[in-house]
Amino acid sequence: MPAIKETIVLKVNSENPEKEKIKLAADVIRKGGLVAFPTETVYGLGADALNSEAVKNIYLAKMRPLDNPIIVHVAKKEDVYRLAVKVPKRAEKLMERFWPGPLTLVLKASEIVPRTTTGGLDTVAIRMPKHKVALALIEASETPIAAPSANLAGRPSPTMAEHVIQDLYGRIDVIIDAGPTNIGVESTVLDLTCEPPQILRPGGVTYEELKSILGRVRVHPAAVSKSEIHVEKARSPGLKYRHYAPKAETIVVEGEFNAIVKKVAELARKYVEEGKKVGILATDESLQTYGLGVVKSMGSRSDLSSIAKNLFKLLREFDNEGVDVIIAEGLPQDGLGLAVMNRLRKAAGYNIIEAK
Ligand code: TXA
Ligand code: MG
Repeated sequence: MPAIKETIVLKVNSENPEKEKIKLAADVIRKGGLVAFPTETVYGLGADALNSEAVKNIYLAKMRPLDNPIIVHVAKKEDVYRLAVKVPKRAEKLMERFWPGPLTLVLKASEIVPRTTTGGLDTVAIRMPKHKVALALIEASETPIAAPSANLAGRPSPTMAEHVIQDLYGRIDVIIDAGPTNIGVESTVLDLTCEPPQILRPGGVTYEELKSILGRVRVHPAAVSKSEIHVEKARSPGLKYRHYAPKAETIVVEGEFNAIVKKVAELARKYVEEGKKVGILATDESLQTYGLGVVKSMGSRSDLSSIAKNLFKLLREFDNEGVDVIIAEGLPQDGLGLAVMNRLRKAAGYNIIEAK
């Protein structure tokens, strides 16, 4: 447990970041400290990616297993060629199309990247975030910034500074508050060291978009699995850890929409009768039908981006309200739905019920 720190919370304008506040935070990064900052996906917990001691403190503050590597954030494409070797043509094509944005590329690491940052692997994951505050912070720090999501390991990722404060206040140096993040689920992690390229974690850039550029792309079986897969020699060690877990027991009900609603209602009734406080993670289309428990809508089924944006926030709200059981409606897996369902299933510890 790291010593208790005095954490500074800095309110920063997301469209027009105040220079002096960014400079203060960048000075902390340059001195080896820890700064939580917003990206377009979720808040990250940043440290100088090239400073092994600083990166070690990220693992300690988050209580993250040391073999789970950390994404390196850059503000200019040139940095990729310092951090990685043998950068393939298709990486350049993807950077051209999707950067800045929610796509993380796994490449062969160069010598300058500490193995603390890569979790001991010889590959490095790199992305350029699409957020003015994140980019300003990286530029002012004059170094790439290693940053996992700014939550305690295993908890839902933070989409608002309040979530970071809940998890990490007193454990890190600075929290930059620039309001809620835009996308709400993390970046897509794409391994370019194999053939065909493989999606290790679905995220903000969709499978369909990657396929249209790459032609061939695979999704790691663990990323779409309905049960826990034993990942032996994990290329993405993150695949093997429990994630996004609310404190409440969580169930995902999958299937066709009408069958889902019927099953969710039936389960909710059963738990309420047992005296449990039930939270229902519904959608706009079903919100009015339940009439018991604490019902929250993720958004409309026809707008998966609003659902992605709300998901982690709602999981945390249920925890704060002390519900015993969360019953979530499954969603279609096209577009952003693949990332959303991946997070929901993991949040539920693969406690999935098929509605018929
Ligand atoms: O959107 C995001 O990606 C956010 C923001 C802050 O950028 N970051 C984030 O980091 O979600 P984190 O640490 O929570 O998730 C990073 C994932 C993990 O599953 C990790 O195992 C994987 O990326 N990863 C990192 N480096 C890797 C590498 N060299 N090879 C394979 N997987 C890697
Ligand atoms: Mg994370």
